[in-house]
Amino acid sequence: MNISVIGTGYVGLITGVGLALNGHKVVCVDNNKEKVEMINNKIPPIFEKGLREALNKTVGINLFASTDLKKAVSDSAVSFICVGTPCDEKGKCDLSFVETVSKEIAFALKEKTDFHVVVVKSTVVPSTTEKLVLPLLEKHSGKNLGEFGLCMNPETLREGFALEDFLNPDRIILGLEEEKTKKIMEEVYSSFSSPKFFCGFSEAEMIKYASNSLLATKISFINEVGNICKRMGIDTYIVSKGVGLDKRISPNFLNAGIGFGGSCFPKDVSALIAKGNELGIETFLLDSVMQVNELQPKVFLDLIKSRTELKGKKVAVLGLAFKAGTDDVRESRSIPVIKLLLKERAEVIAHDPQAEENMKKEIPEISYNNSPQNTVDLSDIVLILTDWNEFSSLDFKEKPVFDARNIFKEIKPLNYEGLSW
Ligand code: UDX
Repeated sequence: MNISVIGTGYVGLITGVGLALNGHKVVCVDNNKEKVEMINNKIPPIFEKGLREALNKTVGINLFASTDLKKAVSDSAVSFICVGTPCDEKGKCDLSFVETVSKEIAFALKEKTDFHVVVVKSTVVPSTTEKLVLPLLEKHSGKNLGEFGLCMNPETLREGFALEDFLNPDRIILGLEEEKTKKIMEEVYSSFSSPKFFCGFSEAEMIKYASNSLLATKISFINEVGNICKRMGIDTYIVSKGVGLDKRISPNFLNAGIGFGGSCFPKDVSALIAKGNELGIETFLLDSVMQVNELQPKVFLDLIKSRTELKGKKVAVLGLAFKAGTDDVRESRSIPVIKLLLKERAEVIAHDPQAEENMKKEIPEISYNNSPQNTVDLSDIVLILTDWNEFSSLDFKEKPVFDARNIFKEIKPLNYEGLSW
């Protein structure tokens, strides 16, 4: 099928490439000319495993990038909306990009005669597809739902594994209302063996928020249990392994550590809280998921301060990305940890194999070193904040190592302290 994908950020580009790898003819649309040029030159604008190889296999063959939204919509049967929905710390999400793109797609629909399906893939708070996107499409195209199709198909991609997750989803959520759209979406995903789950627009939106919020809840749960364990000299990882053997619980997302970051969990939990509060519902549990997460950096600093003086010390911060496998520092837990270290008048030397450039934009005032071993050699104390495997083979020369990610599976450094293990 001919498909257009509007927005070539991390979700849009992966969706476009993933659909092209499955034989569809895809045009990825972005208003950022540089990004469009990079994609057409097979240069990945983001760091994702397998993306470069996938671009080499598809660009110029059945994947193209363009700035011309109208033409891309006119020449395709399905258009995915994959633009950003940034949220403020109160969870209020900015839907202006979704609004703009919905209108532009509607203008193109106005001039089309054949049936066209619009798919919302951007993460939007429940009721957005029904109350914002649909009215805009009907108003600016002059057509009613049924003369065009609408589907809400939330993304379930993990950064660092985005292409793998797109190609092998546990389930494909398809929020839609009419049979014609259902048939077309089944064709879009016909080569995917994963189960398709059909529901309404708002249920599809809520499944995304509820899934992410539950995963975040598991992390804050094991971190709170971990803080109790640490005080009792119990290894939280042994506890979470035993707990995870219960198949109702599963061992996934029970890794205690410095907490969750990224562009999804903090944003999605905050957005669900905001929606609940807007409806006059107290969100006690979700509020505490965020509070536990916000407190973890302080718990870690209190542990370090109970073992050593920080003032005037050179502290190596190994790990800036919100998790290994990505260069993304959005909501990275390294940011509050570094700020607390600076408050203690420590001197920070930071290293990350991928995320250094991005962190420099957030915290320019600290020094950065592109060699992990050199960063250790220049420091008095070492902190591990991102689970990059390469950190576990460094020579720490008996310097105190404080690990917030439990990266040492076999041998731990001589002078070692784990956050909650
Ligand atoms: C998440 C969801 O996993 C994905 O399904 C959704 O589509 C987008 O949001 P992502 O944010 O990319 O994906 O990363 P994820 O691997 O889920 O990790 C999120 C954060 O939680 C990271 O900071 C990670 O370090 C942390 N984490 C994860 C833990 O602290 N403990 C865990 O056990 C798992």
